[in-house]
Amino acid sequence: MHRLESLIFSSSFQLCISVGFLLSFVFSSEIPLGSRISVEDSNYWASSNGDFAIGFFSYSNQYKVGIHFNSSSIPVNKQTVIWVAGADLTVGNKSYFQFDQSGEMVLFDSATELIAWRSKTSYTSVVSAVLRNDGNLVLLNKQKDVVWQSFDNPSDTLLPGQNFSISHVLRPPSKNSVSSYYSLYMAVSGQLQLRWETSVIYWTSGNPSQSAHRATLNTDGVLQLIDQQLKPIWSISGEDHNDLDVKFRFLRLDADGNLRLYSWQNASSSWRSVWQAVNNQCDVFATCGLHGICVFNESGSAVCKCPFTPAGEYTSKCLVPSDENCGSGSSLITYEHTFLYGIYPPNETIIETSLLECKILCREDRLCTAATFINNGSAQCRIKRTRYMSGKSDPSLDSISVVKMCSDPIAVLPQFPKSTPKNSVPKSSQIICIPCLVGVAAGTLGVLLVIQLAIGLYFLRRRKKHLRNKAAFTCVDPNTRGCIMLTYPEIRELTENFKHHIGSKVFKGVLPDNQPVAIKELSTSIEERKFRSAVSKIGSIYHKNLLKLDGYCCESNHRLLVYEFVKNGSLGDCLEDPKLCKRLTWRKRIDICLAVARAVSYLHTGCREFVNHGNLKCENVLLDDDLEVKVSEFGLQIFLSEVSDTWGTAEADVKDFGKMLVKMISGCQDADAACQWAYEHWLAAQGEKIADSRLEGSLNLDEMERALRIAFWCLQVDERMRPSMGEIVKVLEGTLPVDPPPPLSAHNHFRSSSSSEMQSDSEP
Ligand SMILES: *[C@@H]1O[C@H](CO)[C@@H](O)[C@H](O)[C@H]1NC(C)=O
Ligand SMILES: *[C@@H]1O[C@H](CO)[C@@H](O)[C@H](O)[C@H]1NC(C)=O
Repeated sequence: MHRLESLIFSSSFQLCISVGFLLSFVFSSEIPLGSRISVEDSNYWASSNGDFAIGFFSYSNQYKVGIHFNSSSIPVNKQTVIWVAGADLTVGNKSYFQFDQSGEMVLFDSATELIAWRSKTSYTSVVSAVLRNDGNLVLLNKQKDVVWQSFDNPSDTLLPGQNFSISHVLRPPSKNSVSSYYSLYMAVSGQLQLRWETSVIYWTSGNPSQSAHRATLNTDGVLQLIDQQLKPIWSISGEDHNDLDVKFRFLRLDADGNLRLYSWQNASSSWRSVWQAVNNQCDVFATCGLHGICVFNESGSAVCKCPFTPAGEYTSKCLVPSDENCGSGSSLITYEHTFLYGIYPPNETIIETSLLECKILCREDRLCTAATFINNGSAQCRIKRTRYMSGKSDPSLDSISVVKMCSDPIAVLPQFPKSTPKNSVPKSSQIICIPCLVGVAAGTLGVLLVIQLAIGLYFLRRRKKHLRNKAAFTCVDPNTRGCIMLTYPEIRELTENFKHHIGSKVFKGVLPDNQPVAIKELSTSIEERKFRSAVSKIGSIYHKNLLKLDGYCCESNHRLLVYEFVKNGSLGDCLEDPKLCKRLTWRKRIDICLAVARAVSYLHTGCREFVNHGNLKCENVLLDDDLEVKVSEFGLQIFLSEVSDTWGTAEADVKDFGKMLVKMISGCQDADAACQWAYEHWLAAQGEKIADSRLEGSLNLDEMERALRIAFWCLQVDERMRPSMGEIVKVLEGTLPVDPPPPLSAHNHFRSSSSSEMQSDSEP
């Protein structure tokens, strides 16, 4: 079934190459400045021998532009794409690809009306472009020197004659919105390596004692590693490398993580895989994604199974083993001939012991989720303490695995540990600490008393107002001042009739005791009863990093909040202000993020009732004179929504925090775009490129790696995988280690549907 789907998918990918034979204007080889190809015209640029062409092709309701085989000896639906501009980028149906007058190739996306990809060659004196006969798109200057070439920017494929060296990466296209986590690199040691994320190497070529300079696929189907003196030091060849009838070949890192050499078979009119790097597909790391087990079916293809559901069906709901919180104890379920390994994190504890002892060790270790026992000479017990694991199973494997399951009958299908029913209050708020409660309750009572007192005193003072004229607002001692109620005329007075506008519906004012305040106007439609109850709730929250509510006004058609005033404005502004930004060193930025995390953690877990922030972003983080953090705008949803119904969640705040963290590290304006971009660089182990260039020397790389990892955990699509604010605080403090995050994706976090589609078939 899955295999069928995968076949349909991969063939539709190639079927839809839009080649406009009808009215298209085809350039032969040389592409002049100013030329353009577009989706609508379905025209293309071909190489002079006609073997390759560059054009748009459709890809899941959108379009990509790339180079594909174009030879008439290959049927249109098998004209495989070998290079794509911007790899995973898809564009709208009115997009175009243009060689513009400045000498740059640009891809304009009609869906966003933005340039989605560019060759970054403007002002490098590029005067012409050519799609060469070997499938290489090159941009040349007047002297005919190559300024840019597609061979230096590979996607997932290497063609004969193309060099692959240390700066290059092959990565399969992702069916989700971010790049695949498999990649082919050339290591510093000069070996080719297949990696999963940045941490796990599951295949290495050749001999580390000799240092290769580059890898090249020859036209005769031999893949070689070549040293500085042009001497081949390692090579592999396909079954048909001597076959002179084979005209087309390519090497591709497929979506299933295997590297394969393909050649075109004229007789069968098909692409055939003549070599693959990892012989047994089940040995490709995490080939079945999270929680799946790789097995071979009767016809010899690798398929993914879920051992954790009774039916064994592999779906996106293939569940994890139980966590440590089984209500009524747990039991170990045994899987014969099965090898399990952790993915997040990949490391595990290895103990030399017997199978029986291994089971006891796991049962008695509260954190143990599963264990694999192997006996190949010495008996090894590999204890896993993660809920994210993968594995393989085969009658020839002499390993035995046990998985811990809750014996609670409700948990026959174990649930994700952090799963909470929709709209229910997150678990953080369900944990009630009695002493805290008493403390908070007493505090609230105190605040209420102060409000009462303030109101009482205030009325008293107001009567004397005509006599005393000014100083009308010095109702209570400023040190014990609670949340005061003001009339609309008083608000007008202290803002000098809303003279100083400092933000959207926010005005500056000065209390009679010269204390500056910021006054925020809310929608007049908020019901009075709800407004007052929300004010008393927000007014009772006190944390040094949360902006303090000083007062409010609630009259027939006025709803205003009076906050303490913070001098330097928002973090968003500070990042843009060159002078203030100088003060935002790496240390300061991390301290700021930590303060925000602490404040939000306090909102989530420290208040009597759970309060979400609901709108966490740099614009709502204010900085005072000493760049101390004051988080503003928290809990304002209480005013807008029915409490406990469309209630924001802690997980949403965590995601917003993740975005903010990436923005603080990168200094980028557009947080969403920055996250995607930062993740891709991080994945490619180019973390240093992410850092804001204004940080200069103050960067701490270890700390940045930690901050990025936790940020990407925060950005997980599956809310249940996001950390709590408390955990984030610990990671930023450096008191809790953080594993590399699972891949980020827009749709299906687990990628289980894609990883269940095994590509064991020889046709690409
Ligand atoms: C092009 O895309 C737009 C927006 O997605 C869609 O409304 C329109 O129908 C598409 N046109 C064609 C010809 O497919
Ligand atoms: C590959 O590398 C060799 C040696 O550095 C060089 O001579 C050759 O031009 C390169 N080929 C391409 C297509 O860049």
